[in-house]
Amino acid sequence: MNTSRACSEVWVEGISAYLPHHYLCHDDLAVRTGTDPEKYARGLGCTSMAVLHPMQDSVTMAAEAGLSLLTSYGVDPASVGQLIVGTESGVDWAKPVAAYVHEMIGLSPRCRTYDVQHACYGASAALSSVGAWIASGMAAGRKALVIATDVARYDDGSPGEATQGAGAVAMLVGDSHTGVLRPDLGMEAVYSSQVMDFWRPGHRSTAVVKGKYSINCYLAALAQTYQVHREAGGEGIDELDYLLFHLPFPRMSEKALGKLMEAECGQVDEETFSKVLREKVNPGVEAARIVGNIYSGSLYLALASLLENRGARCTGRRVGLFSYGSGCCAEFFTATIGDSNECWKGRTGVERTSTSSTRIGVETYAAFRRETSRLNSDDSFKLGHMPCADSVPPDARYVYLGYRNQKRVYAPGPAGRIARVGSQVGRVSRSVPQPVGPTT
Ligand code: HMG
Repeated sequence: MNTSRACSEVWVEGISAYLPHHYLCHDDLAVRTGTDPEKYARGLGCTSMAVLHPMQDSVTMAAEAGLSLLTSYGVDPASVGQLIVGTESGVDWAKPVAAYVHEMIGLSPRCRTYDVQHACYGASAALSSVGAWIASGMAAGRKALVIATDVARYDDGSPGEATQGAGAVAMLVGDSHTGVLRPDLGMEAVYSSQVMDFWRPGHRSTAVVKGKYSINCYLAALAQTYQVHREAGGEGIDELDYLLFHLPFPRMSEKALGKLMEAECGQVDEETFSKVLREKVNPGVEAARIVGNIYSGSLYLALASLLENRGARCTGRRVGLFSYGSGCCAEFFTATIGDSNECWKGRTGVERTSTSSTRIGVETYAAFRRETSRLNSDDSFKLGHMPCADSVPPDARYVYLGYRNQKRVYAPGPAGRIARVGSQVGRVSRSVPQPVGPTT
């Protein structure tokens, strides 16, 4: 029996991202699509995009991020009372990603598990929900794990293709009065509107988007939420030290800042704009330049990017965060960064990825796309027939093998030691992964 203990502070106690091992440079994509590379570099602000290996998916990325977080923060899995996955890359119409992840990272059966879907807003909705659970006292000292996980996929050769990315960000939420970020409770600046700016019909693996319209929807939602925030007495841009935005592509941050400054002071001179952009916005944008859009995790990757970039210099600082999910639902909220960078130094996953990634060319990128489609079609599982097995990331603790008898089959990856997979613990060879869990 848990004893209720209401609390006035809720903390994101830890953060850990899993970002794919492979990346494609935009200069190479530009050759493939016949585009001026400057459009990608200056127009969109990106240099490369993370490409997920076909034998990984939103489930394996979420498990990787969750395991890294539990390990690096020394969390007892039994203390986790809720696991909520924010995703728009679900692998099943009924079964949530959270159900697989719950087993893969070895959480207790006494844990609520579910997914939240609202395009890129899912993880923010999850954070809000677990915040209320903890503040109300229902959590009774237990922690919540929120994991944002997504693979951004657009049609080959479409304008959206250059904004693709993939990744997962896990956040531990609790009441320990210390950690990475303390979101302000009690203020709610949200906005919803039924718009068809970006969506993915159930029969498609790639998103449909009205690009320019989606940018307008994003900016309208930002203006609306910021106005609510200001009318409720929230701080303005001058009083906030940093601004973090959902980043469908890095240059969106400039458009977003422009919108806020316009709302705050009407016309803005270029010098002031550049200074605010450089000091308050850019530290959160760096990771997106090399990773791309990771959808529900994008805002939280921006947080990880800021923490890694600024280190001890951002401790105790005030930050404004804007979350946007197409369709649409948006939220502007504020928070205080924790007062010791020991809470995140070397643990966010952002540093690790920039030093251990492998560049691929357009042929490999195209092969990964083809193999991903094949592996996600009916009964694709064929043990011994894994064309991409040799390029599985060496750090993968789980791999996806395809469908067998209508079930997704996962196996331990080359990284070997797995916390727990059903009743099996172990290591498998790099080239011939053996399935685990109930596959028949
Ligand atoms: P596009 O048609 O490829 O590009 O669409 P463009 O013609 O608009 O050019 C983009 C920028 O590059 C422009 O700058 C051009 O001037 C510039 P801007 O006018 O914006 O300042 N440009 C150049 N610069 C230098 N040298 C050149 C050159 N050529 C052009 N040679 C778009 C771009 C982002 C719309 C497209 O990539 C797309 O559809 N992306 C996907 C949708 C998206 O990202 N929407 C953003 C808001 S919606 C959102 O955030 C939600 C989302 O994350 C999903 C979810 O919630 O789940 C997407």
